[in-house]
Amino acid sequence: MPAIVVSSDGKGDFGGKVTFHVIICAIVAATGGLMFGYDIGISGGVTSMDDFLEKFFPEVFEKKHHAVENNYCKFDNQFLQLFTSSLYLAALVASFVASKICSKYGRKITMQLASVLFLIGVLLNALAPNLALLIVGRILLGIGVGFANQAAPLFLSEIAPVKYRGALNILFQLNVTIGILAANIINYFVADIHPHGWRIALGTAGIPALILCLGSFLITETPTSLIERQRLTEGMNTLKKIRGIDNVDSEYQELVRASEMARQVKHPFRNLIKRKSRPQLVIAIAMQVFQQFTGINAIMFYAPVLFQTVGFKNDASLMSSAIVGGINVASTVVSVVLVDKLGRKPLLLEACIQMFITQTAIGYILMEHLKTTGDLPKSNAVWVVVLVCLYVMSFAWSWGPLGWLIPSETFPLETRTAGYSFAVSSNMLFTFLIAQAFLSMLCTMRAVVFFFFAAWVFVMCLFVVFLLPETKNIPIDEMMDRVWKKHWFWKRFMDDDDDKRASKVEMAMGH
Ligand code: BGC
Repeated sequence: MPAIVVSSDGKGDFGGKVTFHVIICAIVAATGGLMFGYDIGISGGVTSMDDFLEKFFPEVFEKKHHAVENNYCKFDNQFLQLFTSSLYLAALVASFVASKICSKYGRKITMQLASVLFLIGVLLNALAPNLALLIVGRILLGIGVGFANQAAPLFLSEIAPVKYRGALNILFQLNVTIGILAANIINYFVADIHPHGWRIALGTAGIPALILCLGSFLITETPTSLIERQRLTEGMNTLKKIRGIDNVDSEYQELVRASEMARQVKHPFRNLIKRKSRPQLVIAIAMQVFQQFTGINAIMFYAPVLFQTVGFKNDASLMSSAIVGGINVASTVVSVVLVDKLGRKPLLLEACIQMFITQTAIGYILMEHLKTTGDLPKSNAVWVVVLVCLYVMSFAWSWGPLGWLIPSETFPLETRTAGYSFAVSSNMLFTFLIAQAFLSMLCTMRAVVFFFFAAWVFVMCLFVVFLLPETKNIPIDEMMDRVWKKHWFWKRFMDDDDDKRASKVEMAMGH
C-alpha cells in the first residue's frame, strides 16, 4: 500500500486553480440537476391541463368539471398519481444499478447513458398516443434521473478543488430548482396552446438532456474514477489538466491511496451494515426521508392542482406556481452563501420553525374556509399562496440542499459511494410515496394533511437538536475523530467492536 500523503496545508487543500475546464465540466454535469428539476416541476402543470386530462384521464376530467364535486377529491385518481410517481420508482431501482456502473465504467459514461435514456423517454412522452406509452416514457425518464442523480453529484465533488466542494455540491440543487422554475414557466405559457400544449411541456424536457448528452463529449472522466480503474497515467494527466498546474503529486498520491483502501473493501455494501457505519447510514437515510416528509413535493408536484383546489382559475394557479418556483431558486442561493458560515444545524432548525408555523396556518385556513364545495374567499386564497411561498423559502435554504449535502460528506471513503446510493434511493422511494399518496391524502384527510406534515417537521426538529452533528468546516476525512467519536449518542457505535471481533477471530484461527 502506498504511503499516506498529507495535503500541503494538512487540511485537505492540495492547491490548484478553478480552471476553465473545471467550469465547463461543472456546468455540464449540473445539467443532470436540471433534468431532475424539470421533471418535478412539469408534472403538476401537465396534470392540471384539460387537454391532457381529457385524453388520458377522462374520469378526472369529468370530476374536475362537475359543479358539485368535492373540492378535496377532484384530482384523486390512482392512475393520475402513477403518471407522476412511476418516474421515481424507476429512479429508485436505477440508482443501485448506476452505483455499480459508476464504479466499474466511470461517471462520464453513466451520465451519457442517463441523457440517452432520458431523451428516449422524452420522445415517448411528447408523442404518446396512449396511457401505456406515456407511463413507459416516464419509466425511462426515471432511469435517466436515477443514473444522473447518482453520477452527477459524485462527478462534481470529484472534479472540484477541495475548498469549493460544498459550493459545487449545492450547484446541483441550484440546478434542480432552476429546472423546476423553467418547467413552471413553460407550463404557464403552453397552457393556452390547444390541444397539444402538454406535448410541448413534456417535450421541452429534452433540452437539458440534450445539453448533457452533447456536453458530455467536452468533459473528462474524473481522475478518481480513472485511478480506481487502474488507468493511472491518464488519471495523473487529467488531474494536471483540471487543476491547471504541473505539480499534482500530493493529490495524485492521495487518490491512489484512497482507491487502494477502497479496493481492499471487497463488499462496500456489506461494510455499510457494520456497527461502525450505522451513524452515517442512519443520518444519510434520515436526512432524505425527512426531506420528503417536509411535504415539499406535495407543493412541487401539485402546486397548480392545489391552487385550483383553493379556487384559482387555470392561469392564476400556474402563475402562482411560477412565483413559488422563483422563490425556490432565490432561497437556494441564500443557502450557498450561508451554509459554511452559519453551519448546517442553525439553517435546519430555523426552517423547522418556519415550516411548522406556515403548514399549521395553511391547514387552519383550509379547515375553516374551504368547504367540500365552492371556492375559498379570494383573500384567504391569496394568504394560502403567501404561506406556501414562506414555506418553500425555508425549505430551499435548508432541507433542500442539505438533504443532499450532508449524506455526501459524512461517509468515510470506503463506504461513500455505496452509502450515497442509499441516500439517493431513499429520496426516490419517499418521493414516490408522497407523489403516489398526496392526492388521496388530500381527499381523505382534507386540510388535516397539512397538520400531518407539520407533525413530521416537529419530529425533525428534535432529530436535528439531539442526533444530527454539526459538520460545518470539518474536513471529510476527519469526520470520524472530530464528529462521530465525540457525539454524545453516536460515540457508542465507534468503539471499534468490529475490528476487535475480527482480530479475535484471527487469533482464534491461529494467525
Ligand atoms: C428534493 C426534491 C424537491 C426539490 C425542491 C430537492 O432537494 O430532493 O424532492 O422537489 O428539492 O426544490
